[in-house]
This record gives sequence, C-alpha cells and structure tokens, in this order.
Amino acid sequence: MIMEEIKAFRWLLDVQTLWPAPEGGSQGAQSTAHWATGAASQHALALLTDGERAKVLRFYRPSDAKLSLGSNLLKHRAIADTCRVPWSEAVISEGPNKKPCYKPLAPGSESLEFNVSHHGSLVALVGCPGQSVNLGVDIVRMNWEKDYATVMKNGFEAWANIYEMVFSDHEIKDIAEFVPPARGTQQDEIRAKLRHFYTHWCLKEAYVKMTGEALLASWLKDLEFRNVQVPLPASQMHASGQVGDDWGQTCGGVEIWFYGKRVVDVNLEIQAFREDYMIATASSSVGMGLSPFKQLDVERDVYPRQGG
Ligand SMILES: CC(C)(COP(=O)(O)OP(=O)(O)OC[C@H]1O[C@@H](n2cnc3c(N)ncnc32)[C@H](O)[C@@H]1OP(=O)(O)O)[C@@H](O)C(=O)NCCC(=O)NCCS
Repeated sequence: MIMEEIKAFRWLLDVQTLWPAPEGGSQGAQSTAHWATGAASQHALALLTDGERAKVLRFYRPSDAKLSLGSNLLKHRAIADTCRVPWSEAVISEGPNKKPCYKPLAPGSESLEFNVSHHGSLVALVGCPGQSVNLGVDIVRMNWEKDYATVMKNGFEAWANIYEMVFSDHEIKDIAEFVPPARGTQQDEIRAKLRHFYTHWCLKEAYVKMTGEALLASWLKDLEFRNVQVPLPASQMHASGQVGDDWGQTCGGVEIWFYGKRVVDVNLEIQAFREDYMIATASSSVGMGLSPFKQLDVERDVYPRQGG
C-alpha cells in the first residue's frame, strides 16, 4: 500500500458526562475514591490492567481520573482494532522517552503508531497502522478568566517572555507583537493574542510529542514555526455559515524551520474545537493524509464488543 492511501485516524472522546460519581458524598464527594464506587466508572475501570487502574485511582480529582481512564480506553481500542488482537492482548508499552506505544507480541504482527493528549474534558488519540510514521497530538484550552487577569496585570510582552525557553527569539517576537486581523475592544484584542499564543504552543507540543522527546527536547528554541494561522472557533464558523457543529476552522501551511533549515517532511495541522479548545496534529509524513476527527461514543465505539 502506498503512503498516500494510508490515512491516520483521529478520535475524540468527551468524558464530561461519562462515569458520574454517585450521589450523596460529603467531604470526600469530589475525591476519586468516592467517584470510583459508581457503577459506570467501575465498569470502565474493570477494562484496564491492574497497573493502569491503580494509576487512574491515584488522581484526587475525578475530572483528572476520567481523562486518564478515557486515555487508556482509547489506547486499548486503537490497538485492538488496528492490530486485530483481543482487548486483553492490547497491551500498552513504553518506547524511548516513555512515549506510549504498542509492541506486538508476535514478530511480524500488525503494529500501530499512536499518540494521546487530554485536557479539560477531552481526550484525543491519533493513530496509523505500522511504524514508519511518527505521530503527535496536543489539546490546549484557553483559560480566559485566568489568562486575561494575568495579561492585564503584567502586559502581553511579559506573558510571551515567560516562554523564552520554549520558543525561538523570532517566535517570541511574533507572539508578543501579534496584531489581530480585526479591530475590536481591548478584550477582543487580548483574546486574539492569547489564541495566537495557544496556537503556537499547541503546534509545538504536537511536534515534540511526535518525536517522543517531549520535555527532554534540548532543541525547542531551535525549532521555529512561521506563518502560523489561528483557527477560528466553532462559533465564528457558524457565524460565517461554514459548519454547524462543535468544530472550528482547520489551519495548516505552517513553515517549519529547524536550526535555520526548512523542514519539508512534517505535516502540521491545527483545528479549533468549540470556543476555547484547539487540537494540533503532527505527522512525520507529508504523504499520509489525516482523517477528520471522529467524536466517539464510549458505549458504541470504545468498550470491547463481542470477540474483542
Ligand atoms: C507527557 C508530556 C509529553 C505531554 O504532557 P502534556 O502536554 O502536559 O499532556 P498531554 O495530555 O498532551 O499528553 C499526555 C500524553 O502524552 C503521552 N506521552 C507521554 N510521554 C510521551 C512522550 N515522551 N512523547 C509523546 N507522548 C508522550 C501519553 O500518552 C500521555 O497520556 P497518558 O499518560 O494518559 O497515556 C510531557 O512530558 C511534556 O513533555 N510536556 C511538554 C511540556 C512543555 O513544557 N512543553 C513546551 C512546549 S513544547
């Protein structure tokens, strides 16, 4: 099969309403111990290995536990589907730099490259068969109240300079001096500048997660993105009559520079989701297409079905 025919699949699971805590807790009502006694969460937790379950239950806040639970379920589902193994054999391992991966039990069996991100109430997984391509995904969500207060207190330049270890000098300048395309109130302007910053951040995270080096990458400042376009949120897509769901605009066309040389073999894309989320995908193959994100239903699309 030639690369153009293979597409990466992209899944999104919203855990907001999944696995609710039972009624009637008091002081500990928000803790994971209380949450985990619910029938729905018990059912989902039983699908994990002992080690995965212990990790999920280590979180204090149910919202964090639910993201971890969702992440594990999506990884199992992706391995079981792509590598055609039963759920019990869809074992998640760790590769270099602890990037989660799947190591087929039998040599020559089907393999899978994947990456996961979670934030707010969303879990995203991107994956593709084989191991010839590396993938990275990242979700960000602007925390408007908090971010706005910080910018009002210290100014936007100070905001941008905090990230000088992550961005190149050119990127810091681009972020600090960004001029929003449309005029508006001071709040509109700050919102647009923050969205531009988060677009840069999300793209860079997806890239470093694709490589697997993540936080350990010593070259963050030497990786530079130019021509970064900010995707319109879903509400503005609706206003312009383009789409009618949770999804906002998708933007590509990022110029990637690494140690001053143009990188042409990595595909970077970012899409807005609802009002304040963005999801970036990085792929080490420009020839491989990216399927649109599919929003999953946990009962129908994720839990094991008969036969795996
Ligand atoms: C885990 C890490 C890779 C990403 O963390 P994060 O952005 O806070 O969280 P995300 O939700 O996007 O990603 C978490 C997932 O990344 C995956 N992951 C873990 N280690 C990874 C690695 N080395 N490479 C790629 N993905 C990794 C895991 O699947 C994890 O989810 P899981 O534990 O439920 O399986 C983190 O170690 C990191 O390096 N963050 C970068 C932080 C930073 O300063 N970035 C600067 C801008 S680049």
